[in-house]
Amino acid sequence: MTRIFSDADEESKPRIDKDSVARFFQERALKAGSVGLTRAVIYQDKHPDLAEKRDAAEKARLLPILRLHGDLRVLDVGCGTGRWTEVLAGNSAYYHGIDFSAELVDHARASHPETASLRFSVAPAENYSLAELGESQPFDRILCCGVMIYLNDEDVVGAFRCMASVASKKCRIVMREPVGILNRLTIKEHFSDELEQSYNAIYRTQQELEGYMTDTLFASGFRIIDQGDVYEAELNNRAETIQRWMALERS
Ligand SMILES: C[S@@+](CC[C@H](N)C(=O)[O-])C[C@H]1O[C@@H](n2cnc3c(N)ncnc32)[C@H](O)[C@@H]1O
Repeated sequence: MTRIFSDADEESKPRIDKDSVARFFQERALKAGSVGLTRAVIYQDKHPDLAEKRDAAEKARLLPILRLHGDLRVLDVGCGTGRWTEVLAGNSAYYHGIDFSAELVDHARASHPETASLRFSVAPAENYSLAELGESQPFDRILCCGVMIYLNDEDVVGAFRCMASVASKKCRIVMREPVGILNRLTIKEHFSDELEQSYNAIYRTQQELEGYMTDTLFASGFRIIDQGDVYEAELNNRAETIQRWMALERS
């Protein structure tokens, strides 16, 4: 088990191994058969009640912030098994979910068959364009839940650049991300007893995340218009990290 705390300004911050992250999600896709599509991506394998409560609490918190309506085009970055697909597609004109895991996208497609207005693509969050997604129109809403922790810093920058490049002029971006409360925390090849899998993730502080937005989202006109905690205290079972949401708009 390796848990490494770093200061925000530390020069050489620890990295996570991309292949290990990809393997982790391949295994999650295999486990979806036993734990179900929600716990495959929201975890809490041994606490199904907590997973269900978090799923419901997150949707209740974020749905009003997304301000969906029937004319909008929505992009779901790191859509996983399509946990958000029904809600997003049901409240918009067009839904496109993307994820780097072909196996998780297979699950999403199996439970949400593709139509002319509901699509999935296998694509990395840090490198895609409208053309590569087969799209000609930008997106009015972008949802990204729990994805940045699996990216190294340069890919967080890439992911924010991609969001900016596919966003319409009036786009609203809503992110939900676990953050380090006081310090950046990197988990490297930690065997999780809860998941019975080796885990890698980077919990950046809110300040660090905002720092990576400076030359990307902020430079293309986005501003954080609101932010807050996702869960009430009883649904947060971590001392060093907390789930935060952020809403950004182009001003
Ligand atoms: C914790 S799950 C959340 C899934 C979904 N957003 C949700 O909230 O239900 C993290 C997701 O990020 C995806 N992911 C991780 N790294 C990625 C990358 N580089 N590009 C695209 N997706 C990635 C994983 O495959 C997984 O589906």
